Amino acid sequence: TVLVVDFGAQYAQLIARRVREARVYSEIVPSTMPVAEMLAKNPAAIILSGGPSSVYAEGAPRLDRALFEAGVPVFGMCYGFQLMATTLGGTVDNTGAREYGRTPLHVSKSGSTLFEGTPDEQSVWMSHGDACSAAPEGFSVTASTDVVPVAAFENDEKRLYGVQYHPEVMHSTHGQQVLEHFLYRGAGLTPNWTTGNVIEEQVAAIREQVGDKRAICGLSGGVDSAVAAALVQKAIGSQLTCVYVDHGLMRKGETEQVEKDFVAATGVQLKVVDAEERFLSALAGVSDPEEKRKIIGREFIRVFEQAQAEIIADAGPEVAFLVQGTLYPDVVESGGGTGTANIKSHHNVGGLPEDLEFKLIEPLRKLFKDEVRMVGQELGLPDEIVQRQPFPGPGLGIRIVGEVTKERLDLLREADAIAREELTAAGLDRDIWQCPVVLLADVRSVGVQGDGRTYGHPIVLRPVSSEDAMTADWSRLPYDVLAKISTRITNEVADVNRVVLDVTSKPPGTIEWE
Ligand code: XMP
Repeated sequence: TVLVVDFGAQYAQLIARRVREARVYSEIVPSTMPVAEMLAKNPAAIILSGGPSSVYAEGAPRLDRALFEAGVPVFGMCYGFQLMATTLGGTVDNTGAREYGRTPLHVSKSGSTLFEGTPDEQSVWMSHGDACSAAPEGFSVTASTDVVPVAAFENDEKRLYGVQYHPEVMHSTHGQQVLEHFLYRGAGLTPNWTTGNVIEEQVAAIREQVGDKRAICGLSGGVDSAVAAALVQKAIGSQLTCVYVDHGLMRKGETEQVEKDFVAATGVQLKVVDAEERFLSALAGVSDPEEKRKIIGREFIRVFEQAQAEIIADAGPEVAFLVQGTLYPDVVESGGGTGTANIKSHHNVGGLPEDLEFKLIEPLRKLFKDEVRMVGQELGLPDEIVQRQPFPGPGLGIRIVGEVTKERLDLLREADAIAREELTAAGLDRDIWQCPVVLLADVRSVGVQGDGRTYGHPIVLRPVSSEDAMTADWSRLPYDVLAKISTRITNEVADVNRVVLDVTSKPPGTIEWE
C-alpha cells in the first residue's frame, strides 16, 4: 500500500486515484495520524499531498522527522514538498513570490529519477506562496521555474523526492509520468493492482462474513448499488434478495432496465415495489425543493422497510445483512472512520434508520467511482448500467421546478430521453459528467408552433463536465448537437416550446436545479 498523507484541500483523493491509475494500491490517511501509526501500516511508499497552509503559518501541520528516516520512499508535493524541505534542513522563504496556475518548468534530467524521458520544458500546475531556495543536504535539484530556484529535488540514496507543483492535476502535462517514475523507479514498486484482485478478495470476504445467513440490498438503478449487488450476488447467490423501489420519478426505460438487464446479467432475486402512486400523492401540492427531498427520502425509507419486513416474514430471521454501495470518497469524506457507515444524507435517499438491525456489507468501500465501473464491467454488467451517468436519488422529482405531477413527469421523461439519445448518438457520453434535463413547470413562455400561438414550458439542458461533482463547468457541446436536441424536443414533446442551455459553472450554480 502507498499511503497518501492528506494535508487538506481535496488534493489527496486525486493523488490516491492517480496512484491507482498507475496500478498501485493506495489509501489516504489524515496528516494528524502519528508517524508511528503510519509506519505501522508497513507502507511501500508515502506521498505527502498539497494543502492550503503555508509552512510558516501558525498551527500549520507538521511531520515528525522520523517519517523520512524509516527507509520508506517518500514523495512530497507542493505543501508536502515544502514540509519535506524545511524538516530536512533546506530553506523555504516567504518571498511573496506567488505562482498560481500553469507555469513553465525547467527540468535538468541528468541523473533524475523523476523526470527521465520527459521534456526539458514542461507545463505544470503551481499553487503556492512560499518558495524553496535551497534543497536539503544530499539532495540534487532537478527542476526550477522562473520564480522558484528549487522546484524539484531528489535523493536516490534515501529514496526521498519532492516537487513544488501538483503532478496529480491534468494541467501538469507530464505529471502522471513523474508520479509513475517515483512509484516504479524511486520506490521500486510493481504495477500489479487490478480490480480483478478486488473481486476475488471481496467474494471471499463476503462469503466468510455472511456464512449461511441472508442479505438484502436496495437497488437504486445507479452504478454503485448495482455493482455492489452484483458482487454480493457472485459471492452468495440466492442468499441475496434485492429490492427496487419504483417511485415513479425514474427516467424513461430505467425501471425496465433494472428489471430486465440487471436480472439477466446477474441472476439476482429481485423484488420490485411499485410505489408511484404513493410518492405522487405525498408530493401533491409541494413545490419547495427541500420539502420535496424530505418527502421522497421519508417515503423511500418507509417503502423499503415494508419490503424488508416482507422478505423477513418470508425468509425468517436469518436475514442479517444489508448491502450498501458506499464508495471510498464517502468513507474519506466522513472522516475515514472504520466500522460504522457514515452516509451523507444529501447523497443517499435510502438513508439508514438510526436503529439499524442489520450488519452492513460494503464491498466498494475502498474503491473510486471509475474502479467501481471496472468491477461492474468485469462482473458482466451491461454498459447501460456500468457507464451510467450519476442520477440523483430523488430522481426527476427535483428536476421539475414546481409541483410534481404525473403529466409533468411524463413530459420531462420524453424530453430527457431525447437529450440522452442525441448525446449518445453524438458520442458525447464520456465527455460529459451528466446532463440534467429540467422542466420549468412554473414558467410559461409564448411560442409559435404549427399555425398558432402556444403558451408552453421551457426545458433547460444542463450538461456539465466534472471530475467529482464537487465543482463543475458547463460543457461546451457542439452547436449542431444542441440544435438537434432542441428541434426534436420542441417538435416531439407536447407543451414544450422552448429549449434553453444552462451556462453556469459550479460554484456558483449547483449541478441540479433543486
Ligand atoms: P449538486 O446539485 O449538489 O449535485 O451540485 C452534485 C451531484 O450529486 C447528485 N445529487 C444527488 N444524488 N441524492 C443523490 O443520490 C441526492 O439527493 C442528490 N442531489 C444531487 C447530482 O446529480 C450531482 O451528480
